[in-house]
Amino acid sequence: MATKVLMVCLGNICRSPLAEGILQSKVTDISVYIDSAGTAGYHVGSKPDPRSIAVALKNRIDISRQRCRQFEVADFEEFDLIFAMDQSNLDDILDLAPDEISRKKVSLLLDLLPESESEVPDPYYGGADGFDHVFDLINLACDQICDKLINP
Ligand code: 4NP
Repeated sequence: MATKVLMVCLGNICRSPLAEGILQSKVTDISVYIDSAGTAGYHVGSKPDPRSIAVALKNRIDISRQRCRQFEVADFEEFDLIFAMDQSNLDDILDLAPDEISRKKVSLLLDLLPESESEVPDPYYGGADGFDHVFDLINLACDQICDKLINP
């Protein structure tokens, strides 16, 4: 059965759509189902931010068909692994966790990169270079996810 991975940020228009697209681009021969969501509902139904679409395209990944949705408690049941982009997202997700099994599914994405900064910074209010940095961090972390999925 496919491992189910959920990427979560605040708005689900900048970081987690990139994380969904980047991981999807790497797992062509592994059985994985990937989705993303936001802890907030500000942008539900929207496409990813144009700056995320652009940085993904620059790296030959098309995320333009994704649509924003809000994280929901049912996601704890649906997904095996839930990755939060920053500490605030992690805290908000854990506040909704109904039990210990659910809590154990959740971690910070960059915990996979012990030498790195610990949070994927929110690029929403910054310039395009922030999106390049976010892409690079998520890309490295997704390599680690792939390694773990191939050699559990
Ligand atoms: P994201 O970035 O959490 O990476 O999608 C944000 C997107 C929108 C807002 C904040 C962060 N906002 O305040 O609307």
